[in-house]
Formats: sequence, structure tokens, C-alpha cells
Amino acid sequence: MDINSYHVFFFLFLHSLTILKADTSIREPINLELLLARTGEGYLTSFPEECSTILNRFADASSNFTKCSILHARPIRICSRCIEQYMQFKTIYDELLTTIVNGTSCKSIFISHDRLDAVLEYHDNILSIWDKGHCNTCFNWSDKVPVLSNETKLFNEKFNETMACIMKYIDPSTNDTQPVCENCMQSYIQLDNYYKTLSDDAIGVDSICMDVVDSMNATRSIWSKTLNCCKIRRTPEIIFLCCTGIISALPIFYYLVLRYFSPMRDLPNVLKQSRFKQTILRSLGRTN
Ligand SMILES: *[C@@H]1O[C@H](CO)[C@@H](O)[C@H](O)[C@H]1NC(C)=O
Ligand SMILES: *[C@@H]1O[C@H](CO)[C@@H](O)[C@H](O)[C@H]1NC(C)=O
Ligand SMILES: *[C@@H]1O[C@H](CO)[C@@H](O)[C@H](O)[C@H]1NC(C)=O
Ligand SMILES: *[C@@H]1O[C@H](CO)[C@@H](O)[C@H](O)[C@H]1NC(C)=O
Ligand SMILES: *[C@@H]1O[C@H](CO)[C@@H](O)[C@H](O)[C@H]1NC(C)=O
Ligand SMILES: *[C@@H]1O[C@H](CO)[C@@H](O)[C@H](O)[C@H]1NC(C)=O
Ligand SMILES: *[C@@H]1O[C@H](CO)[C@@H](O)[C@H](O)[C@H]1NC(C)=O
Repeated sequence: MDINSYHVFFFLFLHSLTILKADTSIREPINLELLLARTGEGYLTSFPEECSTILNRFADASSNFTKCSILHARPIRICSRCIEQYMQFKTIYDELLTTIVNGTSCKSIFISHDRLDAVLEYHDNILSIWDKGHCNTCFNWSDKVPVLSNETKLFNEKFNETMACIMKYIDPSTNDTQPVCENCMQSYIQLDNYYKTLSDDAIGVDSICMDVVDSMNATRSIWSKTLNCCKIRRTPEIIFLCCTGIISALPIFYYLVLRYFSPMRDLPNVLKQSRFKQTILRSLGRTN
């Protein structure tokens, strides 16, 4: 089938359509020729150059952020290390949404046009990682450029202090962690207490910046599991529990004694009676 017969076929086809439909399809043949001229593209009109450029930069920004977040996934430093990539990603996405070229918005070309919706899907995935880590709470957003918030900075200082202390006193040649526990107890407790002030619940997963949560989690794990420093505090606890146990058992002892040594049962009454009598007698004697 050569080109001419193809055209003829199409013309006949369109002609039958125009019989059924309104005359809006009269312009179709021109675009169809365009389509045939640009074989393979599958669109009647090509995208504005500017939109393609923005899409290209958006792709770069997304992959920059993705790379950064994968590289800083363990230990989690995604929020503090990838803020630059995140801001670029946000800026370019906003540009993509708002740019309009000759009456065609770039958004209408790339977003929500099909079921896959890849551009929007990648955008949402990146936002979801960022939000899941509560990364916004790591930063002070009062200026145009976000900076680490005072809380995050202070936590990092205390965290560094504790880590430096542990590194200083740990001795890999022995299993004895006593020196580390004793020397770093102060800074560890300070760090732990400061962390607890950052959130209402002790774990803090639901509101604190994930970089901070992860640092604290790692420190707690090192402190109690690797160094086994919690056993130092266990002894006073056992003494306390024993004392509490003995004291709370005292009433039971008292009643058991009363129950099984029957002569004692009557004793209080005897005492009371005799003491009562004596007092009366004594007071009578005094008035006389
Ligand atoms: C992506 O990262 C590269 C290398 O760090 C940088 O040169 C480029 O400007 C970044 N692109 C965007 C869109 O942020
Ligand atoms: C916008 O349209 C005009 C004519 O309609 C054309 O000359 C111009 O190049 C177009 N601009 C862009 C950015 O495509
Ligand atoms: C945020 O930063 C500004 C200026 O750097 C400062 O004045 C403000 O106290 C900070 N806010 C918090 C909550 O740290
Ligand atoms: C945060 O730190 C900045 C600079 O260190 C200081 O000016 C500001 O007062 C602090 N804000 C708060 C709320 O502590
Ligand atoms: C903590 O230590 C790391 C490296 O060990 C350093 O990059 C970081 O700036 C330090 N942070 C503070 C708040 O001192
Ligand atoms: C440390 O403890 C492990 C097992 O708990 C033991 O195999 C190892 O010999 C100990 N090392 C030293 C230096 O005591
Ligand atoms: C803390 O770390 C442990 C393993 O080290 C992990 O199983 C746990 O999920 C972590 N918790 C949080 C809140 O990140």
C-alpha cells in the first residue's frame, strides 16, 4: 500500500466519520499528516522545548536526591545530608507545575495523563521518604534557606560528646567496659534526658527528625547491649525491690502471727481493760 492509497483510505474513513459526527473533525487531516510525518512520537503536537528542559532537570534532581538518600540510609542522615538535593527537587517540581508556554502548561503535558503517571509517582515517593523521616522537623524554616534547628544542633553536640567519650575510654583488648560506663555515664544520661525533652513519647518515632531518632537508638543500643552499662544501675534496683517486698509483706506477717498464736489474740483486750481500769482508778485518786 503506497502513501497515496493510504491517504485515500483515510480520507474515505474520515468522510464516513463526518457524516456521523459534527464538523469539528474537519481539521483532523492536517494533524494526522503531522502525526505521520513525525512517526513514532505518537503525539499530534510536539512538547514545547522549555517543558522538555524542565522535565530533564526534574529527572536529574530526582536522581540526585534518590542517590543521596540511598547513600545516607545507614546510619540515617538523609535529612541533614540531602537537604540541598531535596530543595532543588522541590523547586524544579514547582517550576514544572507552574510553567506555561504559549498557553500550554507543562503540568498538563506530563502529569495525570495516564494510569502509570510516572512523573507524579516518583515525586510522591520522594516526598514520602522525606515525610516518613519527619525531615522537616530537623530544620529551622524561618529563613529562605532551611538551616539545622537549634534542637538538632544541640542534640548533635551532645551526641558527638558521648560518642567521643566512648571512643576515648573503650579498650578493645579487654572485655572490661567498666571504665567506659563510669566515665561516660554523665554525658550519656545528659544525651538521653535531652532526647526525652524533644518528644512526649520516649521513643519519639512519631515526631522527631529521623536522623536524631536513629542516632539516639544507636547510642542506646551501644550503651546497653554492646557495653552492657546498664548492669551498674541494676544493683541498687535489686536492693530497692527487696526492701519494698519486705515492707509490703509486713502486714501479712502481722496477721499470720495474730492468727496462729491464739493466746496473743486475747492479749490486746486484756491490756486495754487493765489499762482502762488503772486510768480510772488513777484519775479518781487524783480528784480525791
Ligand atoms: C545533580 O548533581 C550533580 C552532581 O552533584 C550536579 O552537578 C547537578 O547540578 C545536580 N542537578 C540538579 C538538577 O540538582
Ligand atoms: C509561542 O508562539 C509563537 C507564535 O505562536 C512562536 O513564535 C514562539 O516561538 C512560541 N514560543 C515558544 C516558547 O514556543
Ligand atoms: C530560627 O532561626 C532564626 C534566625 O536564624 C532564629 O532567630 C530563630 O530563633 C530560630 N528558631 C528556632 C525555633 O530555632
Ligand atoms: C537559635 O540559635 C540562634 C543562633 O545560634 C539564636 O540566635 C536563636 O536565638 C536560637 N533560637 C532559639 C529559639 O533558641
Ligand atoms: C560531630 O562529629 C562529626 C564527625 O565526627 C562532625 O562532622 C560534626 O560536625 C560534629 N557535630 C557537632 C555538632 O559537633
Ligand atoms: C571476651 O569475651 C569473649 C566471650 O565472651 C571471650 O571469648 C574472649 O576471650 C574475651 N576476651 C578477653 C580479652 O577477655
Ligand atoms: C532501633 O534499632 C534497632 C536495632 O538496632 C531496630 O530494631 C529498631 O527498629 C530501631 N528503632 C527505631 C525507633 O529506629
